[in-house]
Amino acid sequence: MEEKIIQCLNELIELDLACIAAYEIARAVSRDEEIQGKFSEFQEDHLRHVRELSEHVRRAGVTPPTELDTKGLVIRGFTMLASQEDRTAVLAMRGNEELSNNAYASALQAGLPEEIRSLVASNFEDERRHMSWIRGAVLLRGWDVEQPEIRELSAEARGARRAA
Ligand SMILES: [Fe+2]
Repeated sequence: MEEKIIQCLNELIELDLACIAAYEIARAVSRDEEIQGKFSEFQEDHLRHVRELSEHVRRAGVTPPTELDTKGLVIRGFTMLASQEDRTAVLAMRGNEELSNNAYASALQAGLPEEIRSLVASNFEDERRHMSWIRGAVLLRGWDVEQPEIRELSAEARGARRAA
């Protein structure tokens, strides 16, 4: 297998590893059962991606990555800082899923051999499903419209105006 194909697969594996670590953090702060369940389900998908992509890399005689790279450490660090509870965990994972969706979309343009391409395409479908659930959850719960912090500030401001 060409070196650039292996490199492409290794980059996907790195991003899947980062998402696994990020979902672990997000799930730990989540209190909502539905969200926790989805986080676990999506993490399982990323674990499967790592297993299957790594198999192809190994078949080419190369050892696939098993640890987070610099980007992965940044993603994990960001998720840790950003995730406080359900809302912020979901919003943090939306950012991470964006990275992962983009990586899979561009890998599909990389001229992969057919067997690998179909695996990458099916992983991309998982990624799109993760993203679409997250977007739906954000919309449904109104988490994107107005942040509670801002709502509180504006309530305070209204109170201050009334008192004046
Ligand atoms: Fe994902």
